[in-house]
Amino acid sequence: MLSLIVPTYNERENVRVLYRRTVESLDGEDFEIVFVDDSHDDTPDEIRRLAAEDSRVRLLHRMERGLATAVIDGFKVARGDLLAVIDGDLQHPPEILANLLRVQRETRADLVVPSRYMPGGDPGGLSGLRRLLSLGGRALAHILLRESRATTDPMSGCFVVTRDAASPILGSRPKGFKILLELMVRGDVERTVDVPYAFAVRDSGESKLGWHTQVDYLRQLADLVTVNPDNTRFLLFALIGATGVAVNAALFALMTSGYFDAIPYGTLLASLIASNVALLWNFIWNTTITWRDRVRSDQIWRSALRYIVVAELGSLLTSLVVLVLSGIGAEIKLLDQFIGIVAAVILTYRLNDRWTYLQQEPALQTERSARR
Ligand code: GDD
Ligand code: MN
Repeated sequence: MLSLIVPTYNERENVRVLYRRTVESLDGEDFEIVFVDDSHDDTPDEIRRLAAEDSRVRLLHRMERGLATAVIDGFKVARGDLLAVIDGDLQHPPEILANLLRVQRETRADLVVPSRYMPGGDPGGLSGLRRLLSLGGRALAHILLRESRATTDPMSGCFVVTRDAASPILGSRPKGFKILLELMVRGDVERTVDVPYAFAVRDSGESKLGWHTQVDYLRQLADLVTVNPDNTRFLLFALIGATGVAVNAALFALMTSGYFDAIPYGTLLASLIASNVALLWNFIWNTTITWRDRVRSDQIWRSALRYIVVAELGSLLTSLVVLVLSGIGAEIKLLDQFIGIVAAVILTYRLNDRWTYLQQEPALQTERSARR
């Protein structure tokens, strides 16, 4: 059975329409609709009327606020082995539900996400600024949380998930409202499939998500990034890399500023020194923080040597990207370099993780094999 969870907060004009369109879309399916309502208007009365007419409709009326907890509370009372979530304001057209179900059955996916951001999809219902924030938020999620890369729309408030995949998060009380991210990072999701759809314009009631939700979102990301050590490591690596850039630039500025007139530093020498001090700076922090659990003091020189090789490969890749981009006529040179740097950060992270700081055999084992 499918349990469709509908979080509602002051959606009196929308619930009946949503009900009608949902029932039509799910015609022939075994399903229930669980409204999780925190409203202050008469939305719950409207839902009660629906429940009286159709026993498949249930109401969970709460005395608190919070979109994510509403969805989780809905999951808890749901009776289905398959769970779905949809907004109560019709921005997710209920007609997509039938298709989501069909795809779930065909692919046996743990998670099916309707996506605005794939060929055939349309984020149309979002206004200019909201769209920008949505895209920025999406990019941030994709950068920080590798699990989120399984979908093109990790900010979606609509999805279908198996109860088994969702069960690990039933005990949590997420800080933010992006329940899908919570699910992908903390849940037991192995196979995710995207289905394109067009996000609709809200025509009744108003959005409940204001500026504080942006801050909540960042806090939720910060919270989720610590769940998987791989994600934490990449964040630390990127942050340390950014401080390295600052060290590099500051040193270069200092050495070319005229203070050091007495010493015959050429610009080239200043650049060389600044780059190498920054490299050392990064190596020290990455060794003592990012990969501290993998470092063995007797192998520090080998790690250092490998670190330098990797860094050189990174700068080579940056130059290569710039060469290619300027070759195909990309005009903004600083942007070319920036894209090159992003590529290099990803490459060097991978290489450092799998080679420079490769988990060494525990000392004990080496001793034993030596004795044999
Ligand atoms: N129960 C409950 N409690 N429901 C809530 C609450 C709450 O505190 N806050 C909002 N809702 C309900 C709304 O009534 C609506 O049905 C749904 O959650 C989404 O809220 P909106 O206010 O319409 O959010 P939005 O349109 O700005 O954001 C939507 O798009 C985002 C992606 O761009 C939502 O679908 C988000 O979940 C989605 O991430
Ligand atoms: Mn909405």
